[in-house]
Amino acid sequence: MKFKTTPYHHDLLKDTDRLAVFYEAIEQYDSSTDLAYDLGCGSGILSYFLSSKFKEVISIEADFKAFKCAKENLSDFENVHVINGDVLEHDFTKKADLIVCEMLDTALIDEEEIPVLNYAREFLNEDGRIIPQGIINTVELVNMQRHHIHWDEGAKYDALSDEEVYSQFDFLDDINPDFTADFKLRANKDGLLNGLKITTYTKLDDDIIAGPLPMLNPPLLVPLEERQVMVNDFIHVQIKYSMGKGIESVKTQYL
Ligand SMILES: C[S@@+](CC[C@H](N)C(=O)[O-])C[C@H]1O[C@@H](n2cnc3c(N)ncnc32)[C@H](O)[C@@H]1O
Repeated sequence: MKFKTTPYHHDLLKDTDRLAVFYEAIEQYDSSTDLAYDLGCGSGILSYFLSSKFKEVISIEADFKAFKCAKENLSDFENVHVINGDVLEHDFTKKADLIVCEMLDTALIDEEEIPVLNYAREFLNEDGRIIPQGIINTVELVNMQRHHIHWDEGAKYDALSDEEVYSQFDFLDDINPDFTADFKLRANKDGLLNGLKITTYTKLDDDIIAGPLPMLNPPLLVPLEERQVMVNDFIHVQIKYSMGKGIESVKTQYL
């Protein structure tokens, strides 16, 4: 099947590992489940996967060009209804068995996954599920070459600690978007510390966990005030950000 897309949604389609983990998670549903929402449906690719498993699929997309593509791509599927609008203003009238929401980015800082799920979660049946099910965030001390916040797309950095989990979320829980974490990391070599590397692992369901992929949560490099560290030093750091408010909301400090 040929999909019409915008350039951004085309890049999302080219990340076939990203599609594969969503496909696998959706494939586990039996084909007579009632209703699924696909929130932020983009080109409609995940709605296409859902169409053979659910009696009804309601797909919502804010971007008008992407919505037009999804509407056309899915026009042969009578059980899929594509709506142009902001999920946060959508008047939901029915409870669903599944919410699929791929508004993911590293630590969920730059996209609206958390505000959208906090709003839409009440339109899920009691035993309903969300795909993805949640995320796990890890952090490492690094020396990085670029001194501004950026995603690791071939950027150079040198790790100065092991990778440790600093937060995890289950999307069925109500989640406070204003996030603060304090953590202590042990330097595993001498070096000039000037950043943190944040990595997000996506739990599609109990069995499928995706690591960073080109279009699914590439690691984020966050500057820290420069400090010379020695092997075995414990470095106590605080990070704050607001999930859904963008990378400008990220603040770090030593404690
Ligand atoms: C990462 S893309 C995923 C697109 C598609 N689900 C896929 O997997 O290829 C996220 C999509 O969510 C849409 N989006 C973001 N915030 C939204 C909102 N509040 N309401 C509706 N759509 C939104 C964006 O326009 C974008 O198309």
